[in-house]
Amino acid sequence: MYSPTTSLPDEFAGRRALVTGGSRGIGAAVARRLIEAGAAVVTSARTATEDTPKESTFIAADLRSEAGARQLAERAVETLGGLDILVNAAGAARVHLAGPASIPDAEWQDSLDINFLSAVRLTNAALPALQESGNGAAIVNISTGVAKNPQAPVLHYAAAKAALATYSKGLANALAPAGIRVNVVTLGPVETPGGTEIMQTIADAMGAPLAAMASGIPLGRFGDPREVAEAVAFLASTRAQWITAADLDINGGQ
Ligand SMILES: NC(=O)c1ccc[n+]([C@@H]2O[C@H](COP(=O)([O-])OP(=O)(O)OC[C@H]3O[C@@H](n4cnc5c(N)ncnc54)[C@H](OP(=O)(O)O)[C@@H]3O)[C@@H](O)[C@H]2O)c1
Repeated sequence: MYSPTTSLPDEFAGRRALVTGGSRGIGAAVARRLIEAGAAVVTSARTATEDTPKESTFIAADLRSEAGARQLAERAVETLGGLDILVNAAGAARVHLAGPASIPDAEWQDSLDINFLSAVRLTNAALPALQESGNGAAIVNISTGVAKNPQAPVLHYAAAKAALATYSKGLANALAPAGIRVNVVTLGPVETPGGTEIMQTIADAMGAPLAAMASGIPLGRFGDPREVAEAVAFLASTRAQWITAADLDINGGQ
């Protein structure tokens, strides 16, 4: 059970953030957490949902193309009047129970585009604004535990996210002189629309109830998006101003 802790109410006052995947699940929770602490936030995805924070400005974008990423960065910077925080939470995975050879080539490309290249392209497009921030700009990228412990049915997703983690470390070193920090959170199973669908597919294939998967996690349950948002908010904040190139596992001990 998630029990909220105290947060600093004005911690992000005056800060401007772009959160991809902000229409639902983890991205929406991150956006909400930043807004609660005073940030101005643009959320993005292909389609807004009931879960998309009403206090954010939603900009529709398909991040599988360079043009989609570039246009989103331009519109977000224009909307916010600059940019201090970029959270790359957009991601997607389809489960292929027949294993890696059954994953079509087009889906490998799709997976690289949304789970890896979207963050590269968006970062490149947003970089001038982040450099101008003068405010201790921060990038937080969302990865997955299967990037470190690959599972065959989602190998395309695991490999793309592993690339994201490697990229993030190199980027952190490259941007440190400009005062821009880059960190990764690597997640275990978190209850979100996309995450739960994947876990259910795997549980069904194993002929086991979803609850059995949850009880296999040392802390005995799946994660709550708000628990991820708490860590992302910390890494994006000045409380983490000497933390860069870090990769934080958030997984209930899995
Ligand atoms: N939940 C978990 O257990 C878990 C574990 C490890 C890592 N993660 C990572 O956490 C992040 C958030 O996942 P989630 O669990 O919140 O998943 P989710 O509920 O499926 O949300 C995914 C978000 O990404 C957006 N998205 C997907 N394809 C897109 C595209 N082509 N262009 C732009 N946006 C796109 C979705 O909106 P649209 O579909 O409308 O575009 C949605 O906002 C992802 O990067 C995921 O890989 C999740």
